Amino acid sequence: MTALVAVGAQWGDEGKGKIVDSLALSADLVVRFQGGNNAGHTLIVDGQKTVLHLVPSGILQQRAVNLIGPGVVVDPKVLVEEIEKVTAQGALRDPARVRVSGRAHVITPWHVALDKARDEARREGAIGTTGRGIGPSYEDKVARRGIRVADLLDAESLRAAVDRNAAEKNRELTQVHGWEPIDADALFEELLDLGQKLEAYVDHTGRILDQALRAGKNVLFEGAQGTFLDIDHGTYPYVTSSNCVAGAVCTGAGVGPTRIDQVLGITKAYTTRVGGGPFPTEDEGAGGQWLGEKGLEFGATTGRKRRCGWLDIVVLREAAIVNGFTSLALNKLDILSGLAEVPLACAWRIDGKLTYDFPMTLQELTRAEPIYEALPGWSEDISGVREYDRLPDNARRYVERVEALVEVPVDVISIGPDRDQTIYRRTIF
Ligand code: GDP
Ligand code: IMO
Ligand code: MG
Repeated sequence: MTALVAVGAQWGDEGKGKIVDSLALSADLVVRFQGGNNAGHTLIVDGQKTVLHLVPSGILQQRAVNLIGPGVVVDPKVLVEEIEKVTAQGALRDPARVRVSGRAHVITPWHVALDKARDEARREGAIGTTGRGIGPSYEDKVARRGIRVADLLDAESLRAAVDRNAAEKNRELTQVHGWEPIDADALFEELLDLGQKLEAYVDHTGRILDQALRAGKNVLFEGAQGTFLDIDHGTYPYVTSSNCVAGAVCTGAGVGPTRIDQVLGITKAYTTRVGGGPFPTEDEGAGGQWLGEKGLEFGATTGRKRRCGWLDIVVLREAAIVNGFTSLALNKLDILSGLAEVPLACAWRIDGKLTYDFPMTLQELTRAEPIYEALPGWSEDISGVREYDRLPDNARRYVERVEALVEVPVDVISIGPDRDQTIYRRTIF
């Protein structure tokens, strides 16, 4: 039995969905524990592409039960649509394979509208949120005025929850932002209807998880976003509104830290970021453009162009510290084929001082200048390689340099988007 946490080591979109889908072959449970449909996780199986936003990435492997834990914020409309989508494609035949916590907080159209209106109002300081209502829903949770999934199943609680929110939300929408109000009666009816559609999926996910762990099952926790989008450990305020680090599994899924065995950090072989905020190794020139075009770097949720740059060891070492990585997965190594030299940032200079440590403030981070090592490149197409030893010497040199500098073994290497294009150097799950 193993309980493995898989989280993003950078700014999201590291290829978590692909790796979780591949590992889920041996999973009894796959569990989302934070975030919401700001996530876009791409799975490709035998050339067929599925993008998931809320349903965990174990859905395409028939064995795994997929839990949406209490730490997730759930847009019920998106969840209903996603369940319909995976049902229609034949991936979900038994409703028991998707379980959503009654304690998870709900995202309403109010949250979506306020998310968009507030980010627009930030102008140059915009975070560039996904506009999915994530921040406003988490705010309401912490302010203790949120609506939970279980409320959708009970007309009386739902009516009270909607009424509790209506005046204040509509006042901000209309008076602060000049937007149209949202009709509370129509919203109540809509949410009640969505609740009926979700009823068969609502469950006490914490109990299911506990029973699985007691029975010695394999449990895979699937992070959304990434370490540097974490509300506490990321590049605040250019972050999301949840904790995305491995520790968030404990609160977001309801499991004690003593029951977690391993933590897999997932990173691209280079770096991308969507939205605003500092990104020291961003390459705004030809290199970044080349990565973006070759790596097809467009967001899986919003379709936005991702900012691109080189792999940053300072970032990965910090991620290893805050998450306690026991393994790394290095994804999209195939994209680096064809470079004469591969730049790898090994340290930063901040105000003339050399540092290997991630600084404390956003101001210092904004002034960080990466110091690169140039590793010899390789020209071969590696997307068909399935054994580590068959990779070109210089590709292996790159992998081994990364693991030596981060001090975490690269146990998984991804050389293409398909489930099968994965090399395991060691069985981790
Ligand atoms: P996630 O949010 O972390 O699950 O990542 P996304 O799905 O948003 O973005 C990762 C993108 O890279 C998707 O389009 C994947 O299909 C693709 N991808 C993942 N691993 C690889 C890989 O090793 N090589 C290539 N070429 N594409 C990959
Ligand atoms: P996955 O799980 C990449 C970014 C947004 C924005 C910031 C805040 O696919 O890796 P939010 O809507 O969460 O309030 O936006 O966080 N962001 C992501 N970037 N991948 C994601 O998820 C992201 N989820 C949020 O672009 O900069
Ligand atoms: Mg994504």
